[in-house]
Amino acid sequence: MAQIRIRNTNERIENEDQVLEFLTKQNVLYEHWDVSKLPSQLYEKFVLSDEEKNTLLSSYDTEIRDLAERRGYKVWDIVALSEATPNLPELLKKFEQVHTHTEDEVRAITAGRGIFIIKGDEQTGYFDVELSAGDVISVPEGQPHFFTLMDNKAIVAVRLFIEPAGWIADPYEDPTFVK
Ligand SMILES: [Fe+2]
Repeated sequence: MAQIRIRNTNERIENEDQVLEFLTKQNVLYEHWDVSKLPSQLYEKFVLSDEEKNTLLSSYDTEIRDLAERRGYKVWDIVALSEATPNLPELLKKFEQVHTHTEDEVRAITAGRGIFIIKGDEQTGYFDVELSAGDVISVPEGQPHFFTLMDNKAIVAVRLFIEPAGWIADPYEDPTFVK
């Protein structure tokens, strides 16, 4: 289940209803997929063959199509990152810069953990959303953010797009952001 940390105050929000309420107020979609739908051979598996990726997508076909239909997403794929990923440190360095996109950034976590750092409204400032398997999030278009891994350095997530070209990162220079 997702947990929030508000950076300015260090306040944590861990109660599920309050997490949902907070994210909704910040225009961030937050939902859940049933983790038990994942075939057991894919539990906490971070290096996936094409066949395994297809199995994973089939397992959540209903959820993917439902979300796509509601939000206008047209294509989807799987991202799998772990210490087995070539150049992971360089990749993470590139990830860890605040940016925006011209379309939503959607992630449905199916294994491992990840963290979105998102710029909230003026009063809230930046906040972290720590995600684990079953969490589904959509950061709205134009909202400054970045995504990175957590200490376990491993994640598998379904990504949905309107079109992949719309997901190119535009750097967002923000002197108020402190890592
Ligand atoms: Fe992004």
